[in-house]
Amino acid sequence: MPPLVIQDKTLMRQWTRAARARGERVGLIPTMGALHAGHLTLVELAAAHADRLVVSIYVNPAQFDRAEDLAKYPRMLAADVAALAGTKCDVVFAPSEMYLGGHATWVEVAGLTEHLCGAMRPGHFRGVATVVSKLLNVVEPDVAVFGNKDYQQRRVLERMVRDLDMAIAVLPAPTVREADGLAMSSRNLRLDADARVRAVAIPRALEAAHASFQGGERLVGVLAGRVRAALTAAGGRIDYVEIADDATLVPHSDSTLVTAPSVLAVAVFFGGIRLIDNQVLVP
Ligand code: PAJ
Repeated sequence: MPPLVIQDKTLMRQWTRAARARGERVGLIPTMGALHAGHLTLVELAAAHADRLVVSIYVNPAQFDRAEDLAKYPRMLAADVAALAGTKCDVVFAPSEMYLGGHATWVEVAGLTEHLCGAMRPGHFRGVATVVSKLLNVVEPDVAVFGNKDYQQRRVLERMVRDLDMAIAVLPAPTVREADGLAMSSRNLRLDADARVRAVAIPRALEAAHASFQGGERLVGVLAGRVRAALTAAGGRIDYVEIADDATLVPHSDSTLVTAPSVLAVAVFFGGIRLIDNQVLVP
């Protein structure tokens, strides 16, 4: 059965309230569409924690720091609805109007947004936190799922839900990868054949760093330095490669030893397309 498509915010909220009045738990999986197998595993995970599922599809202008990236973001609602027909998704919420004229309220999560992608993409997490607040307010789910592929985003949204007393359980989901290890992403559709082949350097470099960490290497400069060298050798243009403290997401300096749980996070351009990935390092 194809999911019901709802475009109106009021109808969306009525649908959830009716489900909750029947005693059903509602799960929300926020996305920007161009759905791939990674998104579909989020739906499966949510199904284990909720009776009814909503997938939202909205390409959020407020979180794009480059106009070209927003313009080129893939949009394929019909194909996305078809892909969800084989899942437990009940509703696709594809709001026709998200921000009203004169929108003036923004959600800022301090601290966790200061480094990594937050440092490289000014305003990005403010846009993400604002649209996710709006989606949570409209859909009113019991549970929301976010992927660890966007590790900093998942952490920022968890903190927002906690700090603003939203009565929603946030579920983290593991990263789903292509056969060669590249993390699935809607942006992969925009890689040309050559860049797609070279991008496999990302998971390989992360795996090599993880193996070396497991083997006892603890010096940030050595671990991150090897990742930087491997990405550059593959023709990638590095946006950042950092090992950050897992609690604060503040990057360690190269002379630091990893003695507490940390995350090795990378953002790198291949063929002009910015890709991100990460690997958690637990001593
Ligand atoms: P989008 O990039 O479409 O991702 C939607 C959700 O799918 C996010 O929680 C993301 O972490 C997860 N996801 C993406 N690739 C994945 C993969 N390979 N494996 C597992 N999960 C994956 O992230 C956004 O949209 C937006 O910022 C959004 C939260 C919807 C706000 O606009």
